[in-house]
Amino acid sequence: MLKGKRILVGICGGIAAYKSADLVSRLKKKGACVKVIMTKNAGEFITPITLASLSGNKVATDMFSCPQDWDIQHISLAQWAEYIIIAPATANFIGKAASGIADDLLTTTVMASKAMVIAVPAMNTNMYNNPIVGRNIESLATHNGYLFFGPASGHLACGDTGTGKMEEPTAIVEYVERLTNASRSYEGKTVLVTAGPTREALDPVRFLTNGSSGKMGYSIAGAAAARGARVILISGPTHLQPPASVEFVPVVSAVDMYNAVMDSYKECDIVIKTAAVSDYRPAVAYNHKMKKTQNEISLDMVRNPDILAQLGKDKGKRILVGFAAESIDIIEYAKDKIKKKNLDMIVANDITQEGAGFNSNTNEGFILDSNGGMEQLTRMDKMEMANIILDKIACLFGKDNQ
Ligand SMILES: Cc1cc2nc3c(=O)[nH]c(=O)nc-3n(C[C@H](O)[C@H](O)[C@H](O)COP(=O)(O)O)c2cc1C
Repeated sequence: MLKGKRILVGICGGIAAYKSADLVSRLKKKGACVKVIMTKNAGEFITPITLASLSGNKVATDMFSCPQDWDIQHISLAQWAEYIIIAPATANFIGKAASGIADDLLTTTVMASKAMVIAVPAMNTNMYNNPIVGRNIESLATHNGYLFFGPASGHLACGDTGTGKMEEPTAIVEYVERLTNASRSYEGKTVLVTAGPTREALDPVRFLTNGSSGKMGYSIAGAAAARGARVILISGPTHLQPPASVEFVPVVSAVDMYNAVMDSYKECDIVIKTAAVSDYRPAVAYNHKMKKTQNEISLDMVRNPDILAQLGKDKGKRILVGFAAESIDIIEYAKDKIKKKNLDMIVANDITQEGAGFNSNTNEGFILDSNGGMEQLTRMDKMEMANIILDKIACLFGKDNQ
């Protein structure tokens, strides 16, 4: 439902800017209140008068135009917006936003706003594939909670064929509609998410760990918070910035994570365990750095507490979702894990596949549920997968967003 939603459309200087007129028109037809900011360069491609006519509001272009009633535009628009759609999002805008540069009305407004930002990139394929652009997109998606929609592949205005085409306005409207519907579905729910690896100390400077980046869990935590949930994110050491508005509990070892999860478990309605917890830890963690006095050493390892199994035993009415990172027989292991750990749902990844599992920005795999349902998830961005997982969980507690 877009009726009454306050949507700010930011238009950058790309050839796809002509499609933004259609986007604004479609959002208006759905009943949204739409305001538009155009960058100076967007004005080379489309005129403000077109967007003003379609949105029914004056189009903002200049940060230094004389404030009316002392209403400072970038602050008032930043506060007014519930959703900000940047379409087209140029490589330039993405780079500036990722670097914290606020040198025009659009970048300044976006930085001053707490609204959900949906960036719809459009650019030449080589620009899009440039690793610097990739790094900027990743940085905005993982550290700042931006959602990226597209780009699509096809014939581009520059004559090339490839990825970089702006998604069609109809698809953008559908995407935003889905987000706005989804955004109410977790209100009143407390969601506990675990993420990242654990570290098991050998001595003060050495530890055993694994390659989990935490991206999947952080994406789920951010997406659940965006849907109105109270989110507790318990995370092992990662390089990621916790999403805004989650309660963040940093931990180091599996035992720390067990204790933190048990402390919060009673308050939770839904637990999503994406963390890659070490099954074993060294039997002894030395207080002093180990010296290389012998040619060979062997380590005695002891079992860590099985957090998921413990949660399954004391489940009550909670929804319990696990993850399984496997390299062989993934579906069989996943089915077995659902039963053994009393789960409602499991997301199983084949970590041998490029673009799936640990440290990747994308993921693919299967969602299996305790009723025998199974769905294949083709390779997609982790934030997109987070939203699919949350949609499925919402069905379990009776809030179907589809
Ligand atoms: C004809 C033409 C088409 C362009 N199309 C794009 C585009 O699709 N995507 C993009 O990132 N930049 C494109 N550019 C380059 C941007 O206009 C340029 O990077 C500009 O600085 C963007 O400014 P803005 O992000 O402030 O709007 C195009 C430039 C020209 C002259």
